[in-house]
Amino acid sequence: MRRTLLFTGIMATALVGTVASTGVSLAQSPAEAVAARQQVMKDKGAAVFRTIRPFVQNGTGAIADVQAAAATLASHNGKYAALWPRGTELGVAGSKTKPELWQQTDRLNQLIADMERNATAMNVAARSGDAAQIRTAFAGVTASCNACHDAYQSR
Ligand code: HEC
Repeated sequence: MRRTLLFTGIMATALVGTVASTGVSLAQSPAEAVAARQQVMKDKGAAVFRTIRPFVQNGTGAIADVQAAAATLASHNGKYAALWPRGTELGVAGSKTKPELWQQTDRLNQLIADMERNATAMNVAARSGDAAQIRTAFAGVTASCNACHDAYQSR
């Protein structure tokens, strides 16, 4: 529902709950929206590459940190659509989002759904503390990051 509203451009009330918790105000300018989106992505990068990956690949780091990182990833579930208001495509305020993202709603929603499912699995795995389960979930998460970046992130 939220996504439908967003992509038809009726953003007012649907976003209040979701956007507030990522620290973005409703009266967001395009520059603020881009900055907020990039901050969410940086948080994801830190969780995945600084915390979960070293744990999976080298066995370094504390499980409590992996759990916190996984919780961060899962906390973004339900908030993706709000990250890409119209008018924030490549060329606007340092945005690196290809304009195709706004033209491919079905594909975007599928990528988001995959990301959310994999983030949930990561969260469950982290809480289990089971290294094999965490490794499997990590592969799913990174596949989801990469799939969306391949489609919509300009490099
Ligand atoms: C639904 C699509 C999507 C998913 C899923 C996604 N990203 Fe992104 N990501 C993007 C797009 C688009 C950009 C470019 C954002 C911009 O600048 O407009 C981006 C940018 C980034 C950046 C650069 C941020 C900056 O400007 O400094 C990082 C880091 C990043 N993503 C990490 C991740 C990680 C890690 C994951 C998986 C846990 C992930 N992303 C999942 C679409 C996605």
